[in-house]
Amino acid sequence: MAYRPLSAVVLAAGEGTRMRSSLPKVLHPLCGRAMVLHVIDTLTALPLERLVVVVGHEAAAVTAAIQAGVGTDIPIEFVEQRVQRGTGDAASVALTAFSDAIDDDDVIVCSADIPLLCPETLAALATEHRRTDAAASLLTAVLPDPTGYGRIVRDARGNVERIVEQGDATPDELAITEVNPSIYCFGRAFLAPALRRLSPENAQGEYYLTDVVGVLRGTGHSVLAIPAADPTETQGVNDRAQLGDAEAVLRHRINTAWMRAGVTMVDPARTYVDATVELAPDVRLLPGTLLEGATVVGAGAVIGPDCRVVDSIVGDGAEIESSVLRSATVGPDVHVGPFAHLRPGTTLARDARVGSFVETKNATVGEGAKLPHLSYVGDADVGAGANVGAGTITANYDGREKHHTRIGTGARTGSNSVLVAPVELGDGAYTGAGAVVTRDVPADALAIGVPARIVEGWAKVRNDEASESEAGD
Ligand code: UD1
Ligand code: CA
Repeated sequence: MAYRPLSAVVLAAGEGTRMRSSLPKVLHPLCGRAMVLHVIDTLTALPLERLVVVVGHEAAAVTAAIQAGVGTDIPIEFVEQRVQRGTGDAASVALTAFSDAIDDDDVIVCSADIPLLCPETLAALATEHRRTDAAASLLTAVLPDPTGYGRIVRDARGNVERIVEQGDATPDELAITEVNPSIYCFGRAFLAPALRRLSPENAQGEYYLTDVVGVLRGTGHSVLAIPAADPTETQGVNDRAQLGDAEAVLRHRINTAWMRAGVTMVDPARTYVDATVELAPDVRLLPGTLLEGATVVGAGAVIGPDCRVVDSIVGDGAEIESSVLRSATVGPDVHVGPFAHLRPGTTLARDARVGSFVETKNATVGEGAKLPHLSYVGDADVGAGANVGAGTITANYDGREKHHTRIGTGARTGSNSVLVAPVELGDGAYTGAGAVVTRDVPADALAIGVPARIVEGWAKVRNDEASESEAGD
């Protein structure tokens, strides 16, 4: 078997009307990653000469999302199909990215809506295609309910003859349960001329890529149709119900892989880990945990029950219970929750504690510092070993601008202290219960009191006013 270069084309120009969505179909996420990126991940696991994506509907948004999602080290070529005239037309547009001079290569063509396909399956298709010297090879799937898919029509000897679309099929053809998931490998020298022979005379008035099979067979070429070993992999996503089904399969795969890698999931069916998350061995995930985006969790950390952790770093041995974290960094052995909200820019050093009903934002909390109950700490630095008493608030917003608070090393705030920023509480300083601190407090000092003014008779006057106005009604 001589070496032939292998390239791939992803058809992603369609609108995906059945999703009933303002978001292009191929950008709908599954386990935190856009549908089309799952397909591209699968393709780039193969040694490809080039990867061409056909964009059309919302081309700019789709192109940008793909570029952002794959990074710059994987060169992808984008071609635009301006009018969506069908999958055959999309494939023709894709071929404009290739040079005509050398066309002895093979091209994998697949749609962007098959996020469950695995690289091994594609590699096996390409290998079989080359071994048998076929002009075209395609995966097929035998489904209990073939509704919606193109059907594989085979001749008496079992060779594939053509593909018939649902809308063009006779009742006999509709009964065929072997379907076309749109995963092909073509000899490019055969594909290009076959595409030129397509016509849009069919139920949808489109150029069907599927008709290439009939054209090639009609001109005496061999086409291979290989049933997929696991039809789940070929499952397409056309509507939100299928999106949900595919996400469930993907989630199960992700969870199984992490459990094999040493992560404990008490209830994997209620554990949601994005494709982009990284977990160390001996992480324990309790039910109702969602780990999203660029989240990384260190060895021995325990998360859950009922946590949402987005784009955050959780250190070794940390424990997070019933809390929400976004773009936060939690050091080793930190304890968070239950019922804490760590917002972007929160950094908790080793052994820190953030307890119930505490919200932090743009805040660094030093080693061993404690924010145990009912606090808001925003735009603040809390020194190592400090104790932020129950109900302490950093009043960071003066109605126009945000200001910074510093709580020194080993400082302690009394319950219900309000630190009116910009303000600094020196190292080792204390505040008394209910203190409203408007000026910097030197190290080792105590800030106490809010002398409450007394307005005699105020309530009586108010009540009298109220009864007068009632009398007037
Ligand atoms: C297609 C196949 C059908 C197969 C099914 C599997 C054809 C004619 N039919 O039908 O046999 O069973 O996939 O899911 O190919 N696209 C473009 N440009 C277009 C039209 C579509 O790029 O002008 C892209 C879409 O973005 C999508 C893919 O091609 O990623 C398939 O299009 P879709 O509309 O989903 O085709 P199906 O009707 O599902
Ligand atoms: Ca489809």
